[in-house]
Amino acid sequence: MPSLTAIRGFKDILPKDIPYWRLIEEKAREIAKRHSYREIRPPVLERTALFSRGIGEATDIVEKEMYTFEDRSGDKITMRPEATAGVTRAAIEHNLLEAGRALKVFSLGPMFRYERPQKGRLRQFHQLDVEAYGDPGPYVDAEVIGLLYEFLKSLGLKDLILVLNTLGCPVCRPAYRQALVSYLEAHFSDLCPDCQRRMELNPLRVLDCKNPGCRAIVLNSPKIGDFLCEPCRTHFSQLTEALSILEIESHLDPYLVRGLDYYTRTAFEVHAGGLGAQNAVAGGGRYDGLVSALGGPDTPGIGFAVGLERLVLLLAQNELIEEGPEWYLAILSQEAIELSLKIASSLRANGHAVACDWEPGSLKSRLKRADKMHALKVLMLGDDEVKGSYVTVRDMATGEQEKLPIESFTGQKNAI
Ligand code: HAM
Repeated sequence: MPSLTAIRGFKDILPKDIPYWRLIEEKAREIAKRHSYREIRPPVLERTALFSRGIGEATDIVEKEMYTFEDRSGDKITMRPEATAGVTRAAIEHNLLEAGRALKVFSLGPMFRYERPQKGRLRQFHQLDVEAYGDPGPYVDAEVIGLLYEFLKSLGLKDLILVLNTLGCPVCRPAYRQALVSYLEAHFSDLCPDCQRRMELNPLRVLDCKNPGCRAIVLNSPKIGDFLCEPCRTHFSQLTEALSILEIESHLDPYLVRGLDYYTRTAFEVHAGGLGAQNAVAGGGRYDGLVSALGGPDTPGIGFAVGLERLVLLLAQNELIEEGPEWYLAILSQEAIELSLKIASSLRANGHAVACDWEPGSLKSRLKRADKMHALKVLMLGDDEVKGSYVTVRDMATGEQEKLPIESFTGQKNAI
């Protein structure tokens, strides 16, 4: 029988990598708190219609990447491929978007996309997702991007590139779309079959195609910037000014459209070196029509998501040592086991981290174990200690040893 392994694209996060995940999650919560964004935790499973309506029928995600199935009562269910649609649904369902009220939230958790796995691309991956609803102006866009930068900087990441674009709005985008379609029609036979199909359904998706032939055609195509209405133009220039006040350098990419259909106006990505082809650590933008498209009150919104596996890849370039226990109990004889049980229980009850192997062993082997675990201190317990009612404590950093009365560890007298 073949051995059972994890599903392709689904990865175990092993204890050695947990320090990176902990650091990322702690910093995410800390930075979100500093910006007054509250945590929300929507479920992993949603109705399929939420994503087809929210993300767009003619996107790669909805067309070919979703894990969709019928549950036992015949309902069509999807494992969320991203967080924005679910967070928005939850906000509408629980009346968190009442008129005039801003809602600022973040969420951490797994997402699922049936993509071809490669470095930095998995089928189950994790995101930090941040959303701000209720404010149509450019300064909240700057706040959200500022939050993202604070977060990435708090992890020590440097050499990040913010790629920025505006996608216009329902007033100005139709004229751009028309100009793009006319241009692409003139090059129709040179587009890849996927793009020829995309042109019918959603011509902006052609801008996203990675095929070199299509890229070359796109690079001479009309630019959205030449079609913006006055409010979109002002929004974008105020945003770029606000970003320079925050000392965040941005690079305009007039062909950045992103892979989700809900975006209006601001769209952005943050790219980092050292990740290979999957170099986007974060992506986001404004989605002023999404809340109403999902049946909620007409409410603007902006947000982003960071791919946490990609952050782990970047952080792992510098070694983070797994934090060891404060105490390692070295049990050196059978007679010391009962006393060790008492001491471990008492130390743990007093809030100390204690590791132990219950099989008695030689001092040499036990010190080796403590060293491997990065324990700070070793508490040695053998026949001599039991008879003399003391324990020997070794500081692993200095190698210094001292004898202390047993009572100081069993909680009876001046417990440590
Ligand atoms: P997205 O660009 O599809 O946007 O994903 C955001 C980030 O998630 C990417 O930049 C990448 O770091 C990570 N990511 C995406 N797919 C994978 C994958 N297969 N494996 C590993 N990492 C991946 C969104 O999801 C939007 N919901 C962002 C947003 C929030 N827009 C507004 N609010």
